[in-house]
This record gives sequence, C-alpha cells and structure tokens, in this order.
Amino acid sequence: MVKTTPSKALIIRFNLVCLSIFLSVYATLLLRPPSPVYFNNAASLVRCSLHECHDKEEKSIKMKAVLEEAQVKPESPKKHKTKIKMPSFFSEIGKGMKIGMVNMDEYDVSEWSTNGETTPIYFEKVSHFFNWTDLFPEWIDEEEESDVASCPEIPMPEFAQYESMDVIVAKLPCMYPKEGWGRNVFRLQVHLIAANLAVKKGKKDWKWKTKVVLWSKCRPMMELFRCNDLVKHEGDWWYYEADVKRLEQKVSLPVGSCTLALPLWEQGIDKVYDLSKIKRSVTSMSKAKHEAYATVLHSSDGYVCGAITLAQSLLQTGTKRDLILLIDTSISTAKRRALATAGWKIRFISRIRNPRAKNGTYNEYNYTKFRLWQLTDYNKIIFIDADIIVLRNLDILFHFPQMSAVGNDQSIFNSGVMVIEPSNCTFQVLMDLRDDVVSYNGGDQGFLNEIFVWWHRLPRRVNFLKNFWANTTLEARVKNGLFGSDPPKLYAIHYLGLKPWHCYRDYDCNWDIEDQRVYASDVAHQRWWKLHDGMHERLKSMCRLTKKRRIELNWDRMKAGKLGLPDEHWKINITDPRKSGSLLMD
Ligand SMILES: *[C@@H]1O[C@H](CO)[C@@H](O)[C@H](O)[C@H]1NC(C)=O
Ligand SMILES: *[C@@H]1O[C@H](CO)[C@@H](O)[C@H](O)[C@H]1NC(C)=O
Ligand SMILES: *[C@@H]1O[C@H](CO)[C@@H](O)[C@H](O)[C@H]1NC(C)=O
Ligand SMILES: *[C@@H]1O[C@H](CO)[C@@H](O)[C@H](O)[C@H]1NC(C)=O
Ligand SMILES: *[C@@H]1O[C@H](CO)[C@@H](O)[C@H](O)[C@H]1NC(C)=O
Ligand SMILES: *[C@@H]1O[C@H](CO)[C@@H](O)[C@H](O)[C@H]1NC(C)=O
Repeated sequence: MVKTTPSKALIIRFNLVCLSIFLSVYATLLLRPPSPVYFNNAASLVRCSLHECHDKEEKSIKMKAVLEEAQVKPESPKKHKTKIKMPSFFSEIGKGMKIGMVNMDEYDVSEWSTNGETTPIYFEKVSHFFNWTDLFPEWIDEEEESDVASCPEIPMPEFAQYESMDVIVAKLPCMYPKEGWGRNVFRLQVHLIAANLAVKKGKKDWKWKTKVVLWSKCRPMMELFRCNDLVKHEGDWWYYEADVKRLEQKVSLPVGSCTLALPLWEQGIDKVYDLSKIKRSVTSMSKAKHEAYATVLHSSDGYVCGAITLAQSLLQTGTKRDLILLIDTSISTAKRRALATAGWKIRFISRIRNPRAKNGTYNEYNYTKFRLWQLTDYNKIIFIDADIIVLRNLDILFHFPQMSAVGNDQSIFNSGVMVIEPSNCTFQVLMDLRDDVVSYNGGDQGFLNEIFVWWHRLPRRVNFLKNFWANTTLEARVKNGLFGSDPPKLYAIHYLGLKPWHCYRDYDCNWDIEDQRVYASDVAHQRWWKLHDGMHERLKSMCRLTKKRRIELNWDRMKAGKLGLPDEHWKINITDPRKSGSLLMD
C-alpha cells in the first residue's frame, strides 16, 4: 500500500493537528495497517479507452500492415533438417490413412508413408514484420465512430485444393523459454492452419471428433486444442481427438482481438454472425442447465456486500442460469446466509496458496480462482468479479468459447468478466504452472493472460471499467453519460479503485485519495447505490461500514481537506445514515 506524501512539512503539521484532536482514535492508524480496500485492483493498469487517445496509434498500425504486404520475402530453404521420430503410437491410430502434413520438412515425412499417403500442406509463412500487437491491439474502434476495425490477414493454405484427411500432423514452433515465446505469430499461424484443416478436411468419427497429431516442445495452445481432447502425450508428441463443433466455432471467430468477437448488439446483424441463431442457442433450456454465472470470495469478507449486490443485479436481468459462489471459511455463517438469500448457490472451496508468495501477503492465496475450472458439472461459466454490477442481460455470452473477455491494456484482457470452460485437466495445467508463470502484476489477471494468450474480444460495455485514464473533460462526459444512462447502455460496470460500499453514499470516496482519483465517478457511484436501495433490508445490512473503515474514511476526508483537493468533495456534509455508530458492523 503506497500513499503519496506531498511534503514533510505538510505531513508534520497535518499529523500534529490530527493527533491533538483524535489522538486516541488515530494512534493505531498513523501506521495504517494494510487494509484490503486499498489494494489496487489487478485492473489498475488500464489505459485510455477513448478514441481520442488512440487515433495516431491506430493509423500507424494500418500503415504498417500496408507496408508489410510489399515486404513479404520468400522463405529461404532450410539448410539443416532434423529428423523427427514418428510417435510409437502412430500405427495404432490407423493404417492406409490419408495424412496431412503441416510445417513438416520433406525429410521428416518419408518414414510416415508406411502408415499411409502423406500430403504436404503448402502455405506462405507469416511475415517477420507481423507482430502480436497487430493481432491484439490495445484499442479498437468498437463503436465504429470513425473506422471499422479489421484484422490483418494471416496466410492460410488453399484448403479447397486438398481432399479429406484421416489425420492432420503438424510441427508447432516453440521458442520457449525465450521471452515472449507465447505471443509468437508464426506459432499461432501453424496452430490455426492445423485447426482449420481439422475442421474443413478432417474426417469425423461418430462422436464428431477428428484426429490431430502435433509435435511441439511446449504444450500446444489450449485455446485451440482443448486439454480434454488430448488422448496421448509421448515425448514431444501430442495426440488429440478434437471436438469438431467447438473447433469450428473458434476458427470462425476473428484471428485476434483486432475486431470484436461479437458485434455490438445495437448495430444490426453482422454478415459473419447470425445473431438470431445465437439467440436461439442461448435460450435453449437444456444447455442453460449446464451454464452458470460465478464469482469467488476468499481470505476476507470485504467483498460480501459486493457479491450480494452482484447477485441481485444478475437476477434483475431475468437470467435463468445458476449463480454459483465459491467461498472459503473466512465468511461467517450470518454472511453466508445473506449471500444465499441474495441468490447465490454456495460451494465451499479450500484456498490455493501461491507457492512463491511471501507468507501473510494480501495475494498469498491469489490462485484460488483456479477452482472455477473445477466446476465440471457446468460446461460453461461466466465469471464476474464481485466489484461489478450487471445492468443488462449477459446470457448471450454463454455462446462464446473460453477465453472471451474485454480488453485491458496492451494485448491483455481484463479478468473481471470471463467466459471459461471448466475442466479438471485445465485446472491441473494451471496448478502445474504455478511455479513457472510470472504474472506481470502479481494478480490472477497476469497469470491467466500468460495461459490464454489467444482470446476473443467482447465489447467493453460488457465489463465497463470505471476509470478515467485520459483525465480529460471529454472522457469524463462520455463515460459518465454511459454510467448514468437509463435505460442502461452498459451491460456491466466494473468498480475499480475503492468500492462504493466502502465509501459514504454521499460521494465516490476515490476523490479523497490522490492516487485513486482516476477511479472517481459520482455518477457511477450513484448507480451502485440505486441498486443497493432496491435490496431487502437484510441484504442492505451487509453493506454497512466497519468501525475501522469509518475511521479510514474520515481520515481520508480530512487529509483531502488539508491538501485542498480542488474537487472539494471533502467539503460535502455526510448525510449517509451508515456513519451513525449504531449502524456499524463488525
Ligand atoms: C511490434 O510492432 C510495434 C508497432 O509497430 C512495435 O512498437 C513493436 O516494437 C513491435 N514488436 C516487436 C517485438 O517487434
Ligand atoms: C509463515 O512462515 C513461517 C516460517 O517460514 C512459518 O513458521 C509459519 O507457519 C508461516 N505461516 C503461515 C500462516 O503459513
Ligand atoms: C473432476 O474431478 C472431480 C474430483 O476431483 C470429480 O468429482 C469430477 O467428476 C471430475 N469431472 C469430470 C468431468 O471428470
Ligand atoms: C500472487 O502473488 C504473488 C506475490 O505474493 C505473485 O508473485 C504471483 O505472481 C501472484 N499470482 C498470480 C496468479 O498472479
Ligand atoms: C488531471 O488533470 C488535472 C488538470 O488538467 C491535473 O491537475 C491533474 O493532476 C490530472 N490528474 C492526473 C491523475 O493526471
Ligand atoms: C455542513 O454542515 C455545517 C454545519 O452543520 C454547515 O455549517 C455547512 O453550511 C454545511 N455545508 C454544506 C455544504 O451544506
């Protein structure tokens, strides 16, 4: 926890004033203990999400893409060909097969002929000038205010010229452990070619599965080749029987987050996506039984009120999906009962400790979210952070595959709302990687972004972040317009910074802390409280302040006053009844 300190003189004067008045109360607070409400959310790195701050960037990408066209050089033939030994299980797969070979050097191919007829698949290798950020740009013009977002093309083979195949064999590039190995465009290209071939040319068995054999030093991308479909793993060989329907959907989505995986609902029907069909599949009751919304609470009860409000907001959207809450024993029985009343079906979990975390740190158990993948009685989960409220029905998201989410910054997604597919196998992979993967921000968001580098972009209105990165009046006007719109234009608001229930209801207390002011919006704050006010008294009582929190709030207000913060929120008289001693909670 870092608090900005403007100058020594000010602090001394300030401390003296406060001490003289509140000596007994504040004595413990001068060295304020770490409190969960102050931790920067994993999303604190979000950049500007407005058109104005990305105009230039966007153009340069386009220019670059054009230049690339002219720069593609033919591949120089490889000098040293290494022979890859055929996997021992290959003959068990079948005899007299038609085998499609992707990215296998000719020399490698010879010995395979004993098992059938091999067909090399020709394709143009993606240009060196093409990098990951072209596919996963930080920002796209989602609302199509001045442009239509598009993806650069990744060269693909002429699929039509090939006959159907019994098995697809591909050699996947893997630069591990070179930095950035996971976000390599050539690696993605070969994955996509293998996946497309499997869908378009692979023979399907009665279970609608098709055979894919991959050679790779690192695990093939789980985003395309599901962990559950892995049948055999021998050395560097990975044998999948891929679920064609699921794979087909994935390859039909954009190749990166360079365009939305889903057009904005308001804007008619896109050529690529038949929304009416999607809507039918989403309203099918038999599927709905195996789909749920979920969130996780562990280690502290600071977000109980948030989870209650989230459940209530979800129910108001009319969803028929289950609401699943994973909690550990840090939540008292009374609070559990309130959470159940609010609409959650509660499941107990044990926390997952991060083996590398120092003991006692706030994110010591930050791997607990992995438990979501153990909800294998559901096919799909929409995970929603407990500091989010939902304003419009989100059921359509169940149509999308893992990993679908909203952009955060650079090439990464925000983990506040995620479409995930539970799987014991995926869970195990996440657990096994605990020691290896370095999270850029020490949060689950950083970790998951290293695992699922190939993700599908949902419109930001599905998880609209409450932050004002550009710090301009235009940004404030546009965003506050959206936060306040009624009927709502946003599907969900993500309350970054200090949470509404940790403030007085009179104003957004992010205003009172210098480094939290980028998260301050009274309009969004009011929106949350409106939802709160509609809840049952028993649920509302879970949103009271603790004694400690009230002290912190008053402290921050006073400090803001001493600093003379220009917005003058600290001058507002508090009318919130929660300030009264008789309404505090433990
Ligand atoms: C990718 O392209 C961007 C924009 O042109 C550039 O800034 C960046 O350095 C490139 N990255 C790599 C790894 O080449
Ligand atoms: C923290 O670490 C110490 C020493 O390594 C150990 O004795 C103690 O049990 C640990 N505490 C917890 C809560 O794990
Ligand atoms: C996943 O593992 C749990 C036990 O760890 C088991 O109860 C469950 O049936 C498994 N799910 C599947 C789909 O195999
Ligand atoms: C959890 O926190 C530790 C530090 O306590 C950090 O090193 C680690 O990367 C974080 N875990 C995840 C999942 O990001
Ligand atoms: C936002 O802009 C105002 C005035 O334009 C400036 O005083 C303030 O420091 C800026 N805040 C941040 C966080 O950049
Ligand atoms: C706040 O309350 C004080 C005393 O109760 C009063 O003097 C002051 O005018 C009030 N300020 C506002 C902005 O209402």
